[in-house]
Amino acid sequence: MFNFFQRKKINQQNTIFSKPNILKIVQKEFELDLYGIHGINHWERVFLNTKKLSKYYNVESEVFELFSILHDSQRLDEYTDLEHGKRARKFVEVLIKKGIIYLHKDDQKRLLYACENHTKSNKQHELYSDLIVRICLDSDKMDIDRVGIIPNEKHFLTHYAKEIIKIYNKSSRGSVQ
Ligand SMILES: [Fe+2]
Repeated sequence: MFNFFQRKKINQQNTIFSKPNILKIVQKEFELDLYGIHGINHWERVFLNTKKLSKYYNVESEVFELFSILHDSQRLDEYTDLEHGKRARKFVEVLIKKGIIYLHKDDQKRLLYACENHTKSNKQHELYSDLIVRICLDSDKMDIDRVGIIPNEKHFLTHYAKEIIKIYNKSSRGSVQ
């Protein structure tokens, strides 16, 4: 949700991501504009949001970076595309099967659930209450203002994200650091 008007060209050398092999695979497959609203600038902002939230909660996980790169990777349009989360899950399953993504079982489940459920969550699933999953889902939602939607704190799952959004919405300039 920060500096989203300042687009920049990102390549393998200057990206904040640490997984060039996965980034390369995703970039090659990506059907949309890489610098569009669901493209790499968004993935980076989501990753930065996960860093902010995970630091507050003192939790580390490889799931954050992988979710940021992969959750919108299978979109076929910039609009609703209700099935893109399911396709992202299937894509992640393939990458896991091929050994391109290596995570322990619990994190595999988190990544798969978060990708599939990042637009509409299955709230009955046990992973809906998982902190790592919640940080992923909130981090994506924190960037919603890029499409002109004012984020509503009620839609966030972590206390800290709700606080950030509350302050952000109160700020007349809309710039919270
Ligand atoms: Fe997203």
